[in-house]
Amino acid sequence: MAGKKSSGLDRVLVLEVARVTEAAAIAAARLRGRGNEKAADKAAVDAMRRELGKVAIKGRVVIGEGEMDEAPMLYIGEEVGTGAGPAVDIAVDPLEGTTICAKSMPNALAVLAIAERGGLLHAPDMYMEKIAIGPGYPPGVVDLDRSPADNLNALAEAKGVPIAEITACILDRPRHADLIKAVRDAGAAIRLIPDGDIAGVIWTTDSRETGIDIYMGSGGAPEGVLAAAALRCIGGQIQGRLMPLKAEETARAKSMGITDIKRKYNMEDMAAGDVIFAATGITGGSLLSGVFFAGGSATTETVVMRSKTGTVRRIKTTVRDVDTRYPA
Ligand code: FBP
Repeated sequence: MAGKKSSGLDRVLVLEVARVTEAAAIAAARLRGRGNEKAADKAAVDAMRRELGKVAIKGRVVIGEGEMDEAPMLYIGEEVGTGAGPAVDIAVDPLEGTTICAKSMPNALAVLAIAERGGLLHAPDMYMEKIAIGPGYPPGVVDLDRSPADNLNALAEAKGVPIAEITACILDRPRHADLIKAVRDAGAAIRLIPDGDIAGVIWTTDSRETGIDIYMGSGGAPEGVLAAAALRCIGGQIQGRLMPLKAEETARAKSMGITDIKRKYNMEDMAAGDVIFAATGITGGSLLSGVFFAGGSATTETVVMRSKTGTVRRIKTTVRDVDTRYPA
């Protein structure tokens, strides 16, 4: 995007993308708590693709369900939309939190981001080390290259509180044992989450409500790009660095155009230009309510935001006769 004058996305797209995540959330919600991750994911993918097909864009999936040979739908490089509108890049996660949806636990989301062509990092499906904080802090107050203790102390100082009043959100994984120890040794608290680090990052943007000041640790790189898209809209800071675990992952990153595998990505490196981000709750959580079915209708809650204006909308939608509108 560097050097290119950005005219921005059509604002009508804000509502269009909300419709897309609503459809995916409704489809996945029908399969909440059934213990079948694959079925719920497939339902969300199908529904998201169907709705995307109706949107007047010349869309290209840059973060999707996988490579063309491994994912039949919403694969990387797939063209979506009617083809009539502006050229955009799309990042999708039709079911963020497959396990939590299958177990009907909190915070499963249907997520999508749209950016002007070239605006989203083509992140391969591997881990990414991440650090994120909400808005209102000086640039660079935290940094992936600093120790957890240094970052937490700097954040506490910037917030004007003792470190004991800082809470970090971290995915509950054995690989995070050292990080968890370092954060606790530094004197901060930790909210461990079972899954769903896009929500984990977004929670930092409203620490008074969520109690979370910082997101730390590794999770999916695609989720890192989606989280960066959200923070571009709400404000905040995020850094990410790919964490290939084997040679094939490094090779894959190279084949996707990544020449410096150790590069530290800032927010704008992952999501540039005008960006729209939408998420609809599948299961209820502290970010969004889950889909509520009653009397043949479905009610959803969606947050949709745009970087150009910084507008954050919450949309509560009731779809009547949902089985006709969105057949299972
Ligand atoms: P899925 O919806 O693909 O299961 O992802 C859930 C998630 O928790 C993400 O939010 C996170 O980035 C990633 O998995 C972490 O991966 P892992 O479970 O391997 O630690």
